[in-house]
Amino acid sequence: MSSDRYAIDDVAFIGRTVEEYEHMFDLDLSAWEGQSVLDCPGGACAFVAEANTRDIDAVGVDILYDVPPDELHEKCESDVDTAIAGFEGVEDQFIWEFYDDVADVRAHWTAAYQEFIADYADRFDTDRYVDAQLPDLPFEDDSFSLVLSANLMFLYMEKFDYEFHEQSLLELARVASDEVRVYPSNASTASATRDWTNSARCWPTRGTRRNFGRSRSGSSTGPRNSSESRSESHRPTLSARGR
Ligand SMILES: C[S@@+](CC[C@H](N)C(=O)[O-])C[C@H]1O[C@@H](n2cnc3c(N)ncnc32)[C@H](O)[C@@H]1O
Repeated sequence: MSSDRYAIDDVAFIGRTVEEYEHMFDLDLSAWEGQSVLDCPGGACAFVAEANTRDIDAVGVDILYDVPPDELHEKCESDVDTAIAGFEGVEDQFIWEFYDDVADVRAHWTAAYQEFIADYADRFDTDRYVDAQLPDLPFEDDSFSLVLSANLMFLYMEKFDYEFHEQSLLELARVASDEVRVYPSNASTASATRDWTNSARCWPTRGTRRNFGRSRSGSSTGPRNSSESRSESHRPTLSARGR
């Protein structure tokens, strides 16, 4: 694939470490002990596995959680390769703050999927890993204290339209009793997203009690392009330079 900016063709089945989630969502895991947390989409993240070791009732949802562990392991490996290959020739467009370099990105994403797949292999047929897809979640209203959603909303503008985003955000809010944190939660490089934010249409929860994309402390995170309207609430793990 040849491109003058970071791009991959499909939604990758990759995941982040808990360290990345803590940074992206300004997340203090200790504050959620004894509570329930949904990670949607969970992808190949280590979050659900690790949170459950810390007295958090964490559940992951992903469209691919019906895939058997061995097969999903292979997809983790190939999708990390594909996602990392996307940096080739465009590394200098990023500001390397959280990660040292591309090799460090790979190290984080590899560590994440290895932790994920070990837990998934043991528990993929339990209610810890739920095969479902936005915008329809198989949970009652207010099922989770906190809902996290990273790197699906606002990233794949060619694939998911405005209605998908609106319905998905409302659905994430429906199953959350306290808070929803979405990353990225503001305009991305995609022009369509900027149009939505300019018209304020991308905030379907306006006027409701839900709190989107903003943590209790008022900050949140993920990859950033400097052409984004950057919210104070974001602490990017990977930032892109302006072009
Ligand atoms: C780039 S990964 C992000 C995973 C994780 N949240 C992270 O930040 O690393 C995107 C994930 O969304 C999943 N996915 C794609 N469409 C979905 C849908 N409609 N509902 C739920 N998950 C979906 C993919 O299978 C993939 O695991």
